[in-house]
Amino acid sequence: MTETRPQEILTELCEGTLLVRIHHPERKNALTLAMYAGLTAALDEAMRTPAIRVVVITGSGDSFTSGNDLADFLAHPPSGEDSPVFQFLSALRQFEKPLIAAVNGVAVGIGVTLLLHCDLIYARSGATLQLPFVNLGLCPEAGSSLLLPRLIGYPRAAELLMLGEPFSAEQALDWGLINGLGSDAEATLDLALAKARRLAGLPAAAVQRTKALLKRADTEAVQDTLALESRHFIELLRSPEAVAALQTFVGRRRAGG
Ligand code: COA
Repeated sequence: MTETRPQEILTELCEGTLLVRIHHPERKNALTLAMYAGLTAALDEAMRTPAIRVVVITGSGDSFTSGNDLADFLAHPPSGEDSPVFQFLSALRQFEKPLIAAVNGVAVGIGVTLLLHCDLIYARSGATLQLPFVNLGLCPEAGSSLLLPRLIGYPRAAELLMLGEPFSAEQALDWGLINGLGSDAEATLDLALAKARRLAGLPAAAVQRTKALLKRADTEAVQDTLALESRHFIELLRSPEAVAALQTFVGRRRAGG
C-alpha cells in the first residue's frame, strides 16, 4: 500500500510495518500545520489497522526534520490544544503500537522531542540534534522538560534545553538517548526496518502490553507536563522576543541569506 496525505507525508506499508516519511527536503522537512495533521492521520490509521504492527518514522534527503516550519508558525501560531501540533503530540503520546525512529540527518526542536515518545531510535552517524526553544524565546514541548532530564540527567538536559546547544548522534548514543547508529541514512533506515520486522513478527498483544507497562509510571506526569508546556509555549509564542526571533529567521529566507 502506498498513499499520500498531504504530499509531504508519505506512507508505505510493508510486511506489517508502516513507514512514515516526512518529505519536504528543500525545507529540511520543517513541519507545517498540514504536515502535523498528516502525521496524526498516519498514527490514527496505524492504530485502527490490525495489519499495521509497527510504525517507523524517518525523513527525506539529508534531514530528519528541522522542527516547526517557522514561517508557518509565525503566520498561524498554535492557539490551543486543538492545534495540529498539539493534536500530533497527543496522538504520539497515546500511540499504543511500537514506534521506531530512523533519524537520517539533522533533527531540531520537535524533531528531537518526538524521539522521547519513540520506543527504539536509530540515528545516522554524525547527525546533529538541537533543542533551540529558548534561543527562539520559547520553552520545551512534548513533555521534554520531564522526559529529557529523566533520561540523560538534569545537568545535560539543562545544557540542551536552556542553552540550546547542538549535540551529535554519537553523544546521544553515549547518553542513552538513542539505541544505535547507522553509518549513513540508508544504513540507519535498514537498522530501524530490521528491528521493525522483528517486532512485527512477535505476538502483537504481548508487544503492546509491554509498551503500555513500560510507559505506565510516567503516563499521568507526561500528560500533565505536556499540557503545562503547551500553555507556556502558546503564551511565549506571542512574546516580542519570540516574534522577533521567528521574523529574523523568516526574513533571512526572504533575503536569501
Ligand atoms: N522552518 C522553515 N524553513 C526552514 C526551517 C524551519 N524550521 N528549517 C530550514 N528551513 C528552510 C531554510 O529557511 C532554507 O530555505 P531557503 O532555501 O528558502 O532559504 C532551507 O530550509 C534550507 O535550510 P538552510 O538553513 O539553508 O540549511 P542548513 O543545512 O544550512 O541548516 C538547519 C539546516 C536545520 C540547521 C537550519 O535550517 C535551521 O536551524 N533551521 C531552523 C530550525 C529551528 O529553529 N526549528 C524550530 C525549532 S522550535
